[in-house]
Amino acid sequence: MATIHADDGRVLRAQACVVATNTPFLDRVAIHTKQAPYRSYVVGLAVPRDAIVPALWWDTREDYHYVRLQAGTGGDGRDVLIVGGEDHKTGEAHDTGQRFTRLEHWARRHFPMAGEVVYRWSGQVMEPFDGLGFIGRNPADTANILIATGDSGMGMTHGTIAGMLLTDMLQGRDNAWAGLYDPDRKPKRNLREYVKENLDVAREFARGHLSPAELSSEAAIAPGQGAVLREGVAKVAVYRAEDGTVTRVSAICPHLGCTVRWNDLERSWDCPCHGSRFTPEGGVIGGPAVRPLAPMGEERQADL
Ligand code: FES
Repeated sequence: MATIHADDGRVLRAQACVVATNTPFLDRVAIHTKQAPYRSYVVGLAVPRDAIVPALWWDTREDYHYVRLQAGTGGDGRDVLIVGGEDHKTGEAHDTGQRFTRLEHWARRHFPMAGEVVYRWSGQVMEPFDGLGFIGRNPADTANILIATGDSGMGMTHGTIAGMLLTDMLQGRDNAWAGLYDPDRKPKRNLREYVKENLDVAREFARGHLSPAELSSEAAIAPGQGAVLREGVAKVAVYRAEDGTVTRVSAICPHLGCTVRWNDLERSWDCPCHGSRFTPEGGVIGGPAVRPLAPMGEERQADL
């Protein structure tokens, strides 16, 4: 029996539990050493109706792009050309405006019929060490806790596979894909990538605690922006709202203790280690952290 303790005190019991939350929030370490969080950027440009063949394309360069078409949503009956790419490790870039500009230039070079930009946004993808999702039993957990994560930008495909594979597992049926997507699989050919991503996490942990503040004083933070400041040995995530109100919370991620970074496009605090994201005031947007950034004076140990 799987038991879930809800925030409001209720206790839910089920024969099995599937955690399909982009990245698992119930797992402290195991799966988080096998995948890394990346931000990905997208622009939507209006194009004349039926000017582009509906298809899903992507290129194979290291700075890859992906392209798809959304029919009829570009205004005046036009389609929307959706172009994505310009990915970077979460928390490691502050040039989001330039990334949108580069995407737009790339789109116009390849699709000269593209009109104005009607949408732009960014999202977070989890990149497994070998590019395949982790779908199956959660490592180091009881047998009735299953996960689906590591979509690597292929959530539609992985979501469908997860529905089929996890149903078979829960029904006790064999599935030929179980080994391929097993969350407990070990890196073999991709060992170098696996080691590099985990060294990045170790480096982030050390840098976050030892590096100087991003700004020298609270007064230097513009309205609508945030920065990590130092207060003695403590790191403080300081946000100044548009009306001038200042919020100060601990910059230490409650998952495993890395230091969050300000994301000025999304106006969020992002953790570069495993991708937890928080509102400007410190509330949880996405895991693996399940607790908010602590108010100053109430700093606590990470969840480990
Ligand atoms: Fe793991 Fe922040 S998400 S330390």
